[in-house]
Amino acid sequence: MTAAVVEGIGGWLPPRVVTNDELAARLDTSDEWIRTRTGIGARHVVSDGMTTSDLAVRAGANALKSAGTDSADMVILATTTPDRPCPATAPEVAHQLGLAGCPAFDVAAVCTGFLYALAAASGLIGTGAAGRVLVIGAEAFSTLVHPEDRSSAAVFGDGAGALLLRAGDEEEPGALGPVVLGSDGALSDLITVRAGGTEERTGVRPMEAQDRWFSMRGREVFGHAVTRMTQAALSAVDQAGWRPAEVDRLVGHQANLRILHAVAEQLDLPHDRLVVHLDQVGNTAAASIPLALDHAHATGRLRPGDRVALTAFGGGATWGATTLTWPSPAAV
Ligand code: UT7
Repeated sequence: MTAAVVEGIGGWLPPRVVTNDELAARLDTSDEWIRTRTGIGARHVVSDGMTTSDLAVRAGANALKSAGTDSADMVILATTTPDRPCPATAPEVAHQLGLAGCPAFDVAAVCTGFLYALAAASGLIGTGAAGRVLVIGAEAFSTLVHPEDRSSAAVFGDGAGALLLRAGDEEEPGALGPVVLGSDGALSDLITVRAGGTEERTGVRPMEAQDRWFSMRGREVFGHAVTRMTQAALSAVDQAGWRPAEVDRLVGHQANLRILHAVAEQLDLPHDRLVVHLDQVGNTAAASIPLALDHAHATGRLRPGDRVALTAFGGGATWGATTLTWPSPAAV
C-alpha cells in the first residue's frame, strides 16, 4: 500500500528568547520553580508584527529546502493561533511559499494538531489524492497567554516545524506507520480560550475579560496527558508490529519533562530514549513534535534506522501517536 514517507524536515524559532529569569523579573515565579516543575529553561516568542504564517512559511521553506525541492501539491497547517478566525492560514502560507493553487487547509487539535495533520496527509497520500504534502505545525501561542498568568507564561512558547511527506512504500525508512487518534469533548474546558467563537457571538454565556485569554487546569491535564500519551503510543507501536522495548527514540509532545518521564516509565523505556527539546523552547503546542524532530535530527539524537514513536495530548481533549523508522540523512 502507498505510504507517506518523510522527505524533508525544517524548523524555525522566532529570535526573541525569554529566559526563566526574565519571567521571574516581572512575575511571582523563579527559575528553580519552572525548571523543577516543568524542565523548561527558556522559550522563544514572536515580536510585534510577527504572525503564525510568518513562522509557518519559514519552517515550510526549510523543509522544502532540506528535500531539495520547491514543490508540494498540498499544504496542511496545524495551529491553535491562526492569523485570523477566518479564513484558514494555510492558503496564505502556500501562497507565500510559491505553492499557490494547491489545496491548503488548517487543522485545529491544539497540542495534538501535528499528529492529526500527519493522519490527514497520510490518508490523502494513501488514496492518491496527493503525491507530496507539506505538513506544518506553527504557533504564536504566547499571544494567547495573559501577561500576568505565571503558570501559562512559564510553559508556552512560539515556533514552527514541518515535515515534507511524499508517496512511497510502507517498507521504506521514513514511512509513517498507522496514526492512532482520539478525542474526548467532555474535557473541552480543561484547555480553552473561551471567547472569540460562536459561544460569545450568539450569547451562549456572558463572557468576561479573562475569557479572551488561554486557561488550563494544569494538574488535571497532566494526568490525562500521561494516560492518553501512553495508551496512544502503545497502540501505535503495536500496530507497527514493534514491541515497546524496540522504540529507540520516543518523541512526546513537549509539555512538561515530568510528563515525558512518566510516559517513558509506563512504556518501560529508559529516560535516555526520550527526545527532550522543551528545555530550550517550552511547550510550542502543534509545533512541538516537528520542532523536537528537527532539533534531534540536527543534533544527531536521531540516527538513520532509529525506531521512532511520536505521541501527543492536547486541548479538546485530543490525543494521537504514530511511528516511523528514521530515514538516512540524504533522504531528509
Ligand atoms: O500542552 C497541552 C498539554 N499540557 C500539559 O500537558 C500541561 C500539563 N500540566 C503541567 O505541566 C503542570 O500542571 C503545570 C506546569 C502547568 C503546573 O504545574 P503544577 O505542578 O501542576 O502546579 P499547579 O498548577 O498545581 O500549582 C501548584 C502551585 C500553586 O500554588 P498554591 O496554590 O499551591 O499556593 C500555583 O499557584 O504552584 C503555583 N504556580 C507557580 N509558582 C511559581 C503555578 N505556576 C507557577 C509559577 N511559578 N510559574
